[in-house]
Order: sequence, then structure tokens, then C-alpha cells
Amino acid sequence: MDLLIVGSGFFGLTIAERAAASGRKVTVIDRRHHIGGNAYTENEPTTGIEVHKYGAHLFHTSNATVWEYVNRFTQFTNYVHRVYTTHKGVVYPLPINLGTINQFFQAAYTPGEARDLIQELAGEFDPKQANNLEERAIGLIGRPLYEAFIRDYTAKQWQTDPKELPAEIISRLPVRYTYDNRYFNDTWEGLPVDGYTAWLERMADHANIEVKLSTDFFDESQPLNKKATVGQVPIVYTGPVDRYFDYTEGELSWRTLDFEQDVLDIPDFQGTSVMNYADADAPYTRIHEFKHFHPERADRYPTDKTVIVREYSRFATRADEPYYPVNTAEDRAGLLAYRDLAKGEQDVLFGGRLGTYQYLDMHMAIGSALSMWNNQLA
Ligand code: FDA
Repeated sequence: MDLLIVGSGFFGLTIAERAAASGRKVTVIDRRHHIGGNAYTENEPTTGIEVHKYGAHLFHTSNATVWEYVNRFTQFTNYVHRVYTTHKGVVYPLPINLGTINQFFQAAYTPGEARDLIQELAGEFDPKQANNLEERAIGLIGRPLYEAFIRDYTAKQWQTDPKELPAEIISRLPVRYTYDNRYFNDTWEGLPVDGYTAWLERMADHANIEVKLSTDFFDESQPLNKKATVGQVPIVYTGPVDRYFDYTEGELSWRTLDFEQDVLDIPDFQGTSVMNYADADAPYTRIHEFKHFHPERADRYPTDKTVIVREYSRFATRADEPYYPVNTAEDRAGLLAYRDLAKGEQDVLFGGRLGTYQYLDMHMAIGSALSMWNNQLA
């Protein structure tokens, strides 16, 4: 073995694929029973509908190198992501755009009139002087839109009143003064034609790559554990950085999600793939309906059933899946201390969203793995 990779998410698999293609023998271990990290999907058994097990994953990028690279393993559909939100029993388009504003104020503002209105409403606070998230948000988009679309949704995401949340959590709140409600601004977007898992498996399908699942790097009862391998073989580690160092510099905090899945005996639940719930009376933040990610599969998917998943957000404990870094001042200090420790680890490189304690979109995880390969490993 020339290289041991801990974690089979997009970061680990990109390193594995590049190393294997250049003739190196690679072993990838993952503590889960499946490959692919959080991008993993599986077909719901009674309907065959592809469900994203760790939250909805939409691929999008403006990075030409990454786009060329991912197209070696999968084709993409022409799916374009759009999100809607329900507030007081009415559905509005997101991100906040001219359609949202005119529907909310029951008006026909031109772009210029809407811009003037939002600027006037936002005058209540200076976002640069904001003492908390609420003041900053009002200083960016004004109180009415904040109270309708941001306040309760943010409170559900963080389980905290936005008045108690630091202003730094948001630097900007995009408002579009057109009717464009495309969610992503990137050059390319789409979903893998035959699913994420087929794509992820193709990345690992090489004679030089061995994948060992249900294998935890910290489990000393199995041969490829930390104690037995560090210093013996080069390692790329994509698990949580604080766990690697046994939490000596403190625990980095994360938010997690709980998912509640239902198969319904109706053809269509909400007519779109993602519906946010802006108000406090719905305990979930959003509902995904997975058949809408693949309208091109209409001939394969059942016409009388649908799969929905309600998503709930909360702070993670050590036993939960870490999803979004909380990134408090304490976390940032801890991360700096872990980065120093990481520099001292012989032949171990830290990468990916858990190894660097950063939210990374898929194209960013793949792009940063390609850089690590080119600059530090090749
Ligand atoms: P990932 O977490 O995927 O992989 C790490 C792997 O390491 C896991 O498989 C884990 O089991 C393994 N591991 C950890 N500790 C281990 C140990 N001790 N021993 C062995 N294995 C261990 N991106 C995007 O572009 N569009 C989108 O729509 C979304 N949507 C989205 C929704 C939600 C809810 C989240 C949380 C994230 C997204 N993402 C996203 C981001 C996407 O999930 C992210 O880019 C990739 O997961 C990053 O891949 P990594 O390989 O870095 O981590």
C-alpha cells in the first residue's frame, strides 16, 4: 500500500482516484457501511425513488477543471434547482427576488422601486454596527421581509432566538431585483443521471483501489488503525480533526440534522423538490420530495406514490453526524490549535469538510482534493 485514505467522501475518493491513476496502490477505509460520505444516496425500496440519505445534494460549479473532472465519471441531467417557502399559508419563491417582494407587498414594483423600498426599510439599523443577527438582517433587508422569511427559519436552524445569535453568522442576505429564482448562480449544474452512488462507485472502481467499509480508524481491534499506521504509510485523513487529536484542544461544535422519511400513497405532495417552512408553527425547516429531482425518470418512478423527508435542525452532540460547523470564536481558536498540531503529524494530510472544519460544497471538496493531489502528493 502506498497511501491510506481515511474517509470515502468526495475528498477521499478524488485523492484515491488520482493516486490510483498514477500507479499508486491505495486503501480507502470508511467507518460507515457504504461508500461516498454525505453524498451517498439509495433507492427507497418500495418505490425505487432515489433518496439522498444525508440531505439533498445538488451539484453546481463554475470551476472548469472540476466540471471536466466530474464528467469523467457521470453525465448530468439538466435539472435546475429552485426553492420555495411557505409563510402564513402562502408560497413564495426564494431566494428573495422581485417576485417574492411583489407577492409579499401585494404590489407591482419595478426593480428600481423595490430597491428604494428595501433600502428605506433597511435604514432601521446599520448592518456594520449590528449587535446581533436580527439587527444585521434588518439592516440588510428591512424588518417586514426579515420577520416573514428569516426570523423564525433562523431560530429553527439554530434553536436560538436570532437576537441571541452573533451578527457574524450572516455577512449578506441576497435580494435579487429581477424575477430570476434560479437557486445557484454557477455556470454548470445538474444531477448525476444514474444517481450519486453510481458516480461515487465509478470513482473507486480501479484495480489499484481497495475499499474497506465499516472500518473505523480509531478502532484498535482492526489492522488499519491510527496507532498502527501513522508514520508507517502516508495518510490522507478526512474525518473530524478534533477526534484525530482526541479532543485535546476542545470539541469543535457542529449543527446536525434529523430526517423523517415518509412514503405517501399520492402522486405528488408539493409539486417541487424543496419547500422551506418559514414560520415557527412548523417544527421542521423544510420538506424534500425526491421524485422532483428527476422529472426525466417519470417513466420509471411510480405515479401513485411519493417519498418525502422532513428536515429538523439542532446542535450536534458527539454521537450525532456533524453537518454544519457552528464556528464560534472558541471554535476558531480551537481550529488554529488543531492546525498547529496537524502540521506536526508525520506524513498525515488533513482534508475535506471534517478534516478542515469548513462547510464545503461538493465541487469545493473535489477541487481542494485535486489541489492537494497536485501540490502535495503527486
Ligand atoms: P464526507 O463527510 O462526505 O466524507 C467523510 C467520510 O469520512 C465519511 O464517509 C465518514 O464516514 C468518514 N469518516 C469519518 N471519520 C472516520 C473514521 N474515524 N474512520 C473511517 N472513516 C471516517 N454540497 C453541494 O455541492 N450541494 C449540495 O446541495 C449539498 N447539500 C448538502 C446538504 C447537507 C445537509 C450537508 C451537510 C452538506 C451538503 N453538501 C452539498 C456538502 C457535501 O456534503 C460535501 O461537499 C461533501 O460531503 C464533502 O466531502 P468530504 O469527503 O469532505 O466529506
